[in-house]
Amino acid sequence: MQRFTELEKKYALEAIENEFNTSKNSIFNNRLEQKFRDLFNVKYTIGHVNGTQTMHTALAALHVESGDEVIVPPLTMSSTALAVLQNHSIPVFADVDSSTFNIDPASIIKCITGKTKAIITVSLYGLSPDYDKILEVCKQNKIYLIEDNAECFLGEYKGKLVGQFGDFASFSFQASKHITCGEGGMLTTNNENFANNARRFSSLGYAGVSAKQGKITRNDIQNPNYNRHISLGFNYRMSEVNAAVVLGQLERAEELVEQRIKVARIFDQVLDGTNLLIRQNEPMGYKNSYWAYSAILNTENPKIDWYRFRDLFQKNGGDGYYAAWKLSYNEPLFKNEIQKWNGVWQKYNENLCPVSEYLQKRMIQLKTNYWDLSEAEIQAEVLYKTIKEF
Ligand SMILES: Cc1ncc(COP(=O)(O)O)c(C=O)c1O
Repeated sequence: MQRFTELEKKYALEAIENEFNTSKNSIFNNRLEQKFRDLFNVKYTIGHVNGTQTMHTALAALHVESGDEVIVPPLTMSSTALAVLQNHSIPVFADVDSSTFNIDPASIIKCITGKTKAIITVSLYGLSPDYDKILEVCKQNKIYLIEDNAECFLGEYKGKLVGQFGDFASFSFQASKHITCGEGGMLTTNNENFANNARRFSSLGYAGVSAKQGKITRNDIQNPNYNRHISLGFNYRMSEVNAAVVLGQLERAEELVEQRIKVARIFDQVLDGTNLLIRQNEPMGYKNSYWAYSAILNTENPKIDWYRFRDLFQKNGGDGYYAAWKLSYNEPLFKNEIQKWNGVWQKYNENLCPVSEYLQKRMIQLKTNYWDLSEAEIQAEVLYKTIKEF
């Protein structure tokens, strides 16, 4: 199959031919937002430049303030915690579950203080966290929930699409993601007030925008006495060409996601026959959308070592694979920024989240974006051969 088809090209060309003139400047943004609303059965959708600024907008729209605490997992791409810093709030790191690699509700409970305002959950590698338990914690403690679904598209939790649980849900269309236009993002919510705040925050604080509409009328802006900016906002809007390309991808989303699942099933066949690699557990009732295929190296085998395994895999003809990102709190940025903005030194000790520490050192992330399944089969054979050498 092809990752991009004539459809995406046709839409992109149409967006250019519209010349970005003001009367046509949100045709594709509107179509994309509408299609997202229909797919996820949500009331409001706000297109964004990427899936990091979506989360900054969500925090601001929920009135999470400077110095408030937001609970996040550390085992993820750091945008999740970075968005919290961009909002001048404090990321508090909850540990993850050792089998699903996702944020652990029991650890969330331990992180709650009087300053906790929100939790950002991540569906790591395409797999949902345990939303029944997380929603219960949110309800009991009056905490907002933001879903970071950058790595999950059409994944499911107990029969519901991931994206239907939070006060806001965030999506990314960055180049490696299930559906993409290079860079882009979407924020969804069912709350009109939150959606109004989000649209305004992500559109320069314009008075004329609303939950459903990102466009300002020409009549308004032609008036010399028009007050355009009524609150502080950023310019996080998505371009028409990007909206056009990702609309085409959204119309093909099912086949794009299914292809990654097929690749995962090919790797499954290799992992079924070994205990050297332990894959991310997909509990009953969950549907993993496999942005990547992840597993941990079983270091009970004394010969195994992350670098040695990767070198052998590559020598055998493997594409190479990624490690999990460094845990967010181990990145120098987090300690320094917290101190600068809030005057508080957050003590992010080395072993703050022991399960995350353990997993991160042993994790491998295999690509699932093979558009020709025979390429994935070759990689699976290489993986099999490498395992046999231990
Ligand atoms: C879990 C997670 N959150 C957020 C992001 C950020 O998305 P974007 O690159 O669109 O800003 C990514 C990856 O890019 C991600 O993997």
